[in-house]
Amino acid sequence: MSSAPLPRVRPRRLRETPAMRRLVSETRIHPAELVLPIFVREGVSAPVPIASMPGVVQHSLESLPEAVADAAAAGIGGVMLFGVPEQRDARGSGATDPDGILNVATRVAVEASAGRLLVQTDLCLDEFTDHGHCGVLDDRGRVDNDATLVRYAAMGLEQARAGSELLGLSGMMDGQVAAVREALDDQDFTDVAILAYSAKYASAYYGPFRDAVESTLEGDRRSYQLDPGNRREGLREAMIDIEEGADIVMVKPAGSYLDVLADVAAASEVPVWAYQVSGEYAMIEAAAAHGWIDRKRAVIESVRGIRRAGADVVLTYWATELAGWIRNGD
Ligand code: PBG
Repeated sequence: MSSAPLPRVRPRRLRETPAMRRLVSETRIHPAELVLPIFVREGVSAPVPIASMPGVVQHSLESLPEAVADAAAAGIGGVMLFGVPEQRDARGSGATDPDGILNVATRVAVEASAGRLLVQTDLCLDEFTDHGHCGVLDDRGRVDNDATLVRYAAMGLEQARAGSELLGLSGMMDGQVAAVREALDDQDFTDVAILAYSAKYASAYYGPFRDAVESTLEGDRRSYQLDPGNRREGLREAMIDIEEGADIVMVKPAGSYLDVLADVAAASEVPVWAYQVSGEYAMIEAAAAHGWIDRKRAVIESVRGIRRAGADVVLTYWATELAGWIRNGD
């Protein structure tokens, strides 16, 4: 009778009890490593639900302080503001208007935060242009990279004046980090930091976001956002942004780009963040609403996976709720 040799190496020993599993866990999520994206809509008095993002709303200026206060109470690291303006035009004038919705919302959020968490802003023209592109167009209708840099520099200055502590450059124009850094430094905003959305892919997962900001875009952003098949190029973009002076670099979306995230995390000398985008949120919410997935476990697993791949901080629409779960020890 032959008996199989007994295994000498038994990795399962470390999985046997909850106490042991807790001790050997390699990746934890801490509330301080989460940032909540918040939409603020001009001209509404009450929050407006976003159909494709159940549980997420367009805030009014009146409801914003409470959202910031809840985020602070949950212990999360920051909030990231997007503006939804009433009027749009070809050059995105609202973005550089001190009374534009994003700049006003920034002032409100900074006051509500009272230093308890970081207030950061999205720096891109797409919510403010009538054509919906992230930059201004040339006379042939193409996105004009260098003319856009001038607009980004002006937008960055207004955001800094409004009190934003971290500018999230999400437009994917060449040279945008250098252009905004130079403008900030020229005006003595040397302490305002830059988060470069370095590896931002032309993704289908932004679909619900475009509802959230009521995007007017026709066509796509493939002439400036990265091709989803390109891994090396994602790393290259991050390295260029660090060279240009980015304080933090980001990979976006997160879940389908964990290889890029791991590459950037391995090579970067600055913090690396990841953005779990609207479509990633909507997929889990939709499956959970059908009873097809355990919502809480899926949310935690999705964010943990992003942390495990190398993100120091995760931007996620679940930030406040997730922070509550983690605190309770789940
Ligand atoms: C552009 C911007 C987008 C998102 C954040 N900033 C959309 C786009 O590039 O089309 C997407 C965020 C999300 O889907 O959650 N300003």
